[in-house]
Amino acid sequence: MNAALTIPPLPAAAATPVGAEVRRGLTARPRRLSPWLFYDQRGSELFEAITELPEYYLTRTEREIFAQHADEILAAAAGAGLAILELGAGSAAKTGLLLEAAVRRHDEVAYYPIDISASVLEKASSRIAAQLPQVAVRPIVSDYTRSLRELPASGLRRLVLYIGSSIGNFDPQAAAALLRSLRRRLAPGDWLLLGVDHVKDRTTLLRAYNDAAGVTAEFNRNVLARINAELGANFRPRLFRHRALWNDRECRMEMHLESLVAQEIRIPALDLAVRFRRGESVHTENSYKFTPDAVSALLTRGGFAPRRHWTDARGWFGVYLSEAV
Ligand code: AVI
Repeated sequence: MNAALTIPPLPAAAATPVGAEVRRGLTARPRRLSPWLFYDQRGSELFEAITELPEYYLTRTEREIFAQHADEILAAAAGAGLAILELGAGSAAKTGLLLEAAVRRHDEVAYYPIDISASVLEKASSRIAAQLPQVAVRPIVSDYTRSLRELPASGLRRLVLYIGSSIGNFDPQAAAALLRSLRRRLAPGDWLLLGVDHVKDRTTLLRAYNDAAGVTAEFNRNVLARINAELGANFRPRLFRHRALWNDRECRMEMHLESLVAQEIRIPALDLAVRFRRGESVHTENSYKFTPDAVSALLTRGGFAPRRHWTDARGWFGVYLSEAV
């Protein structure tokens, strides 16, 4: 018998992005799981619910800024026509305000929402096409965090939207690398509109990631349910406590899942067993908060020239327009 045939094949799941990430993260010390794992169908629904929570001021505040300043923002992006591309568009709930301002100002507006989820994109695209028939909507299914391919423009000037504080979920090096890779695909004179959460008092931040209704806790624990569903693991999510904390040195909110008991988790699809001590945690998310100076430095590192920014009355959130140079 051929000896090579006796080596058991790696389970197929180990080679998928989810399998590879779960293996890497749960065998690391300290243990960690990447935040993109949150966003299966249920996780995306829970995130939508978070955006409506009284404590989660981010989405509401950014929307307020758009409602007040959309015309000024769009006035800055000169030219007869405009191609608006949105990274991680999701439900594109706030984008309508910017698109309305764009059609008031430009003869031709094309909108390219880019997202990993085809079903979410389809829903958002048909809603926008129905509401704003003047806008040509061209959805693109793609994971912009891994492969940012050519960005279409059909000869128009481009305005890339990267809003919702999504950049805050990357560490500073990865955030700068993402901006640089975006910059390489743009031409001088194209624009980037970046939405970021500002540093603020710790109580407000802690409440935003630790809501009274427990939706964020559910969102955090859902990653364990996802690993059960996709890799056959035996996590009991209730045996992990949601923890949100402010890391002052790194200027970020962190989310962790802390094991309430000593337990062994089996993940058959990865042929892996993971032992947790009581009190041991898995680090599941960072959410960086910025000062205006830190945003300017990040944009400059990414190859963009900061031009203007807008904020709300409390200065809690910022929307930064910068130019590819
Ligand atoms: C998607 N992202 C910007 C959210 C954030 O605030 O970092 C995800 C989130 N995590 C907990 N609540 C919301």
